[in-house]
Amino acid sequence: MYKTFDEIKKDCLSCEKCELCKTRTNVVFGAGQENAKILIIGEGPGENEDLQGLPFVGRGGQLLDKMLKAVGLSREENVYIANIVKCRPPKNRDPLPQEQEACINWLRHQVAVMKPKIIVCLGRISAQKIISPDFKVTKQHGEFYERNNVLLMGTFHPAALLRNPNNKPLAFDDFTKLREKLEELS
Ligand code: URA
Repeated sequence: MYKTFDEIKKDCLSCEKCELCKTRTNVVFGAGQENAKILIIGEGPGENEDLQGLPFVGRGGQLLDKMLKAVGLSREENVYIANIVKCRPPKNRDPLPQEQEACINWLRHQVAVMKPKIIVCLGRISAQKIISPDFKVTKQHGEFYERNNVLLMGTFHPAALLRNPNNKPLAFDDFTKLREKLEELS
């Protein structure tokens, strides 16, 4: 069992459990506050993330940071951000089920060390892997599900919001609910 993020990271950075290791520039381990109550999980690194080794640093990341900031949250202060897969899928395709399965243990180790109170899944890939295989973002976004004393919530992926800005108010509502839940817990 790992005791710290540094220990997990050391092993994770040399991971070769799936083919994505062959085309990556950097492993995107995660970023933010390791003792945060909120863990946000995206799908996988895009081009900018692969180049910088950090999650959500492109246009989608800017939107995510803006939504978080609107409810008093940020990676500098009170959330940690990671992805289902830690290496970029070529041409930003969806990570394959076997790639997700090969990678998910790193996230499980991170959850075990971090012990978040709330996990927020961004988009279908993340919500279907973490919450339920038949999760429908359009129907179930903003709903909280409890598992092993952790609250799970799915909402829209920022990249989907950039493509379809009509859903932005719904996403902002979800982040407002997230803030309220956090306050109920503390
Ligand atoms: N999209 C994701 O799902 N994760 C990132 O880190 C960047 C874009």
